[in-house]
Amino acid sequence: MFINRKVAIIGVGKMGETLLKGLLKNKLIERENLSGSTAEKELSEKVSKKYKIKTYVDNNREMVQEKDIIILAVKPQIVKEVISEIKEVVTKEQLLISIAAATSTSYLEECLEKKVPVIRAMPNTPALINEGMTVLCPGRYAEESHLQMAKAIFGAVGLVEVIQEEELMDAVTALSGSGPAYAYVIMESLTEGGVRMGLPWELAQKLSAQTLLGAAKMVLKTGTPPALLKEAVTTPGGVTVDGLMELEEGGIRVALIKAVSRTTEKSKELSCEGEIASNQ
Ligand SMILES: NC(=O)c1ccc[n+]([C@@H]2O[C@H](COP(=O)([O-])OP(=O)(O)OC[C@H]3O[C@@H](n4cnc5c(N)ncnc54)[C@H](OP(=O)(O)O)[C@@H]3O)[C@@H](O)[C@H]2O)c1
Repeated sequence: MFINRKVAIIGVGKMGETLLKGLLKNKLIERENLSGSTAEKELSEKVSKKYKIKTYVDNNREMVQEKDIIILAVKPQIVKEVISEIKEVVTKEQLLISIAAATSTSYLEECLEKKVPVIRAMPNTPALINEGMTVLCPGRYAEESHLQMAKAIFGAVGLVEVIQEEELMDAVTALSGSGPAYAYVIMESLTEGGVRMGLPWELAQKLSAQTLLGAAKMVLKTGTPPALLKEAVTTPGGVTVDGLMELEEGGIRVALIKAVSRTTEKSKELSCEGEIASNQ
């Protein structure tokens, strides 16, 4: 879907650059309609040269004027500062999409001090290779047309889901936002298991990565719950069941469930702290 809109990305860091790349690569936006900002001049020049787009340093205010969509991709700690800088020039006709973790739409709406449509998005790093998972949540003033726009943007870098209950965004952050880190620990451990049994590192890494990728695709493509797919690998009295027993003994399930629960709590704590600090 070609988006005939002008887009400004505030914060062309890891995630901002990923989105920028996705938009250009998938030809969603004309290069001349895309701009980005950074805090450091050096990075700004690098981005401008690499993607041939207009970049700004220390001047988000000028950049966001007359843009249709503003993507806020800075760290949560500086969201307030950036919004203070741009709020006077932002209008209700623009759409603000924020990917800042633990930053609610109501907080952003309050900081903006006007009825600007806001959408909160939680993408993840595999977006870098178009295999991202993004969950969108509309704010009070965002309409279906705004959601469609956000879906097109994040659809360029992976799968997109929409939720209306913003309180679930902390769990989303914990599961798909932080999830790649958990997956890498599992992958790393499987690789080490293979190496321990004599496989060369490179081969062991390939086997574990492709195995997790294949297993994930089985779930996504068939819609079958992992518990049932697991049965097909587990021959009664065979080798897999012994491995599964070791996993249970090691507490892998509880560890992963607790990781998602703990991260959800942390995300909740951080969003409360941010909102309390902003009211002081
Ligand atoms: N990484 C993830 O897995 C992930 C997943 C989902 C959501 N997020 C969210 O995405 C956001 C960005 O994370 P990230 O990992 O991409 O961080 P990052 O790589 O540090 O990128 C942040 C960028 O913001 C720029 N910046 C700082 N102050 C600015 C200002 N006043 N005006 C314009 N740009 C400014 C920085 O520029 P300089 O480099 O020049 O300082 C940097 O390029 C965070 O809010 C995070 O919660 C991250």
